Amino acid sequence: MLPWFAKGKFPLYLAPMAGITDRIFRSICKELGADVMVTEFVSSEGIIRRDDRTRKYTEFDDAQRPVGVQLFGADGQRMAEAAKKVIDWKQPDFIDLNFGCPVNKVVSKNGGSSLLRNCSALAEVASAVVAGVGDQVPVTGKIRIGWDSNMINAVEVTGILEDCGISAVSVHGRTRSQGYSGEADWSIIDACACSAGIPVVGNGDITTGLDVEQRKRQTAVHGVMIGRAAMQNPWVFRDAKYYLKTGHHPEPVCSTERWKLITRHCREAIAWGRYGNECRTMMAMRSRLMAYTKGLPGGKRLRSALCKVESLCELEDIAEKYLAHRNKDGNYAAALTT
Ligand SMILES: Cc1cc2nc3c(=O)[nH]c(=O)nc-3n(C[C@H](O)[C@H](O)[C@H](O)COP(=O)(O)O)c2cc1C
Repeated sequence: MLPWFAKGKFPLYLAPMAGITDRIFRSICKELGADVMVTEFVSSEGIIRRDDRTRKYTEFDDAQRPVGVQLFGADGQRMAEAAKKVIDWKQPDFIDLNFGCPVNKVVSKNGGSSLLRNCSALAEVASAVVAGVGDQVPVTGKIRIGWDSNMINAVEVTGILEDCGISAVSVHGRTRSQGYSGEADWSIIDACACSAGIPVVGNGDITTGLDVEQRKRQTAVHGVMIGRAAMQNPWVFRDAKYYLKTGHHPEPVCSTERWKLITRHCREAIAWGRYGNECRTMMAMRSRLMAYTKGLPGGKRLRSALCKVESLCELEDIAEKYLAHRNKDGNYAAALTT
């Protein structure tokens, strides 16, 4: 049994999100209460080629543990070889196998969610990786509920993965053909959790502590995984823990604290250098700034300033004006023109 599922525990996972849940963002979410982390998915072929960029995706700090490195690929032996390499480099707490990615580039090579419609290939991949890594680290899997509405087979797939020696399964309650549209179907996630002898982590559309509490109470899941809501509000983990403990929502985070976190995120991303120099990093951060400031008062004007930002200095200037003006009369939009 993975220790984070020990009796009485209900882990909150940060969902793996390519281009989002990098080393810096994971640290932030960990500090704010996320219990378990999974890296962005990495290609098993990139790992085998010892590609530098792929290696960067697998970086994590010890403070983020327990952390899993997520691999995708279609060939069990190659996946096992990649898993062993990752274990040698990084000693993650677990290896996670991606059986949910809907992206054409991955699916067309029979990886990600494509394996959901080929259960023998899926079993071959899972068994090969479990056998390859032996007792070095546990192997987990992440799936969607099926390929499309005519092939919803998550309960069967969860059983197959369990038989292959997989230690836990995260289930995103949408089919591949849904992409991110519609609503996650938690009745199927629940059916997986009820039928499996291994922990099942539920994933899809969780945005508040109340959502976490309801899923915990109404389904048999052993933990939940939060993705897009954390991009906008990484405090969601802290809030969820508070809600689980008290049954009340905490005070929403204040603007000053929000801006402090936004500027810190950018500062650390620049220092890390994964996205290039300061200007390139800030350009890469623009979509993150949009997410962080979604729903803030004066949002329209604010976002049109943020989508042009090229340096940390500019961002700090925007933050300062925003906060200073808020303190005067609450007219945020005008603050950014002065
Ligand atoms: C931008 C983005 C990138 C994603 N990348 C990955 C990935 O690398 N591996 C993976 O298993 N899932 C990936 N996902 C899916 C999420 O892990 C999660 O299953 C999905 O967003 C549903 O959870 P949510 O409703 O809490 O966002 C990604 C999702 C988004 C929005």
